[in-house]
Amino acid sequence: MTENKRPPTSDKFDFVDILGVDRAKLEHLLAVAERLKTQYRATGRHEPLAAHKTLAMIFEKPSLRTRVSFEVAMTHLGGAAIYITPGEIGLGTRESVPDAARVLSGFCDAIMARTFAHDTILQLARYSNRPVINALSDRSHPCQVMADLLTIREHFGILSGLTLAYIGDGNNVARSLMEACAVFGLKFRIAAPAGYELHPSDVQTASSIPGFDFQAGTDPFEAVKAADIIYTDTWVSMGQENEKAQRMKIFTPYQINAKLISAAPPHAVVMHCLPAYRGVEITDEAMDFARSIVFQQAENRLHFQKGLLAVQLGGQ
Ligand code: CP
Ligand code: NVA
Repeated sequence: MTENKRPPTSDKFDFVDILGVDRAKLEHLLAVAERLKTQYRATGRHEPLAAHKTLAMIFEKPSLRTRVSFEVAMTHLGGAAIYITPGEIGLGTRESVPDAARVLSGFCDAIMARTFAHDTILQLARYSNRPVINALSDRSHPCQVMADLLTIREHFGILSGLTLAYIGDGNNVARSLMEACAVFGLKFRIAAPAGYELHPSDVQTASSIPGFDFQAGTDPFEAVKAADIIYTDTWVSMGQENEKAQRMKIFTPYQINAKLISAAPPHAVVMHCLPAYRGVEITDEAMDFARSIVFQQAENRLHFQKGLLAVQLGGQ
């Protein structure tokens, strides 16, 4: 019997949402990611922690960073990744989500999925006996924000006590960022137009974490005034294309530009999960200025995901 054919354990580690994982485990994921990044930078390789293992990657939406970084991570770890479009497997149409989960977990060692409905991820996790990874749903984007924490810690040397100001839509990325800030002791400020705020029940859940420092409003200048990090995302998430015209008007005051940056402390950095719509939610000047760390942030998707896979598949 090869290692790959071992029966799955009942204590599989799904990575679905930040608040579904305890703080010590999240710290461990960051530490493994940092170690593998250092090792890879120094030697161009590391132990094949996922040798002979295969990751199934289901994408209901487009992707550059997530798809490529997971695939490269599996390559670096000595395993393989299979890119699957829902049109190909007919997720929920040709075959039910539970059945697809059961079948894929018989072939593969882990399943990663980018979906519209968050419930699809939950169903995959429920019916797969292999680890499942949320690679973005309409509700959350936990892999993104863990890579963001890696980036913030690289830049500032700490996490706890920093202030992150999120400007724009109270979307999936904002929700996961709020949760990550709550767990790791960053102060979270959000400026969003009325009607586009984070859902109060999600804020209430995050606020139950002791010490969480949260402020919400509609004024981006107020939000950034004590910010160490200014963060934004697209105003039109995947699946919201029919709201584009309306959103473009409503979100105009929320652009990250030189004027807004100048209202923040002089050391504040700019982050964006990307893809960026230059000239819309962020200007060229803001994307490309000296304290923009957006491309370091993008690269860290690879390093965080490598750490995650090394834990899920490589016994780290
Ligand atoms: N940030 C992010 O998830 O990028 P992609 O949509 O390109 O994967
Ligand atoms: N909020 C964006 C994130 C893209 C990475 C979306 O869901 O489209």
